[in-house]
Amino acid sequence: MMHRVVWLETGQSFDVEPGEAVLAAAQRSQIELPHECQFGGCGTCRVRLVEGRVGYESEDNETGELPMGLNPEEAEAGYALACQARPASDLVISVAPPLACSSPTRLRATVESVQPLCADVTHLRLCLPEDAGLVFRPGQYMNVQLPDGRHRSFSMASRPDGNRVDFHVRRIPGGTFTDRQLATLCAGQTLDVEMPHGSFCYQARDERPLLMVATGTGLAPIKSMLEALMDDDDCPPVSLYWGMRTEADLYLDDEIRRWADRLYEFRYVPVLSRAGSDWTGRRGHVQDAVLADLPDLSEHAIYLCGSPAMIADAKTVFARHGASMDHLYADSFVFQAH
Ligand SMILES: Cc1cc2nc3c(=O)[nH]c(=O)nc-3n(C[C@H](O)[C@H](O)[C@H](O)COP(=O)(O)OP(=O)(O)OC[C@H]3O[C@@H](n4cnc5c(N)ncnc54)[C@H](O)[C@@H]3O)c2cc1C
Ligand code: FES
Repeated sequence: MMHRVVWLETGQSFDVEPGEAVLAAAQRSQIELPHECQFGGCGTCRVRLVEGRVGYESEDNETGELPMGLNPEEAEAGYALACQARPASDLVISVAPPLACSSPTRLRATVESVQPLCADVTHLRLCLPEDAGLVFRPGQYMNVQLPDGRHRSFSMASRPDGNRVDFHVRRIPGGTFTDRQLATLCAGQTLDVEMPHGSFCYQARDERPLLMVATGTGLAPIKSMLEALMDDDDCPPVSLYWGMRTEADLYLDDEIRRWADRLYEFRYVPVLSRAGSDWTGRRGHVQDAVLADLPDLSEHAIYLCGSPAMIADAKTVFARHGASMDHLYADSFVFQAH
């Protein structure tokens, strides 16, 4: 049976065919719901069900189990993942419309520099064509097109400013782009990219203290957002927790410490999971360090970025400590098979 979906914030509505997912139906009607991976992994397409019920049964999910990007607490609290959810009734959904920015555009970018930041992270600076005229928001990402038609995603690590854009690329051993292609890339070469993508952006309307939690190169979009907040009178208090394995991995430690001069009430806490004996800072998992310091998260706007495992765990444990799912944003660096 066909079901009708109404998007509360925009008043737009669309029909969903039997067996069709909410996101696919919205796209068929040219309605832009936030999304990224489209396979239930990243959680970006999460909507709140104001009215109605959904299920997750499909050809690929015969038992109807919850997708990886949605935990039972979120489902219990009335959230659904639009890319996987099939309506079981008419629906009213609620999610903030994407912030204004350019539509994803194919460009030929020129490599300006490729520099190591630490053993397995490279700083890649691209120069976009002068006439690209793109408007992108801090926290968004680009897709690098591979010669075989697939793509790989990387978040912008600098604030939108002119036509230069920075990226932090972690080498995945044996990886098509991050190992093989990046190793041969040098200044002057070009890359075909598509940008901007994504809805992991700073939400000024929250007016709450910021808790930013990153693992690894998940720092990149958070750096982009925080750079845009520097010297801004409206910058809320900021706590940044950065999870890495060893001290040598903290590739931006000195620079981050200097951000305290330009951000309001800035706290920075690096957390190492495999620290050497000399390390006097925090140890363990980054989400546990957050809870040790901030047992009540009910007042924060929370931004999570990096490993899917950290994000899944942080969402669950932060919810138990009062975090509001309406003010929690996540960008999961899910693996890309296509
Ligand atoms: C929205 C988004 C933004 C991202 N932003 C960044 C960023 O700013 N910086 C960054 O370093 N990465 C980022 N990533 C992750 C990055 O896209 C992947 O690491 C990259 O696609 C790997 O490509 P590859 O061609 O080198 O590896 P592939 O050839 O695709 O993979 C090689 C092998 O490694 C596994 N693998 C792939 N990715 C990962 C991973 N992330 N961790 C562990 N194993 C993996 C694959 O399953 C495969 O077995 C982002 C991902 C997404 C979805
Ligand atoms: S777009 Fe739905 S979980 Fe990623």
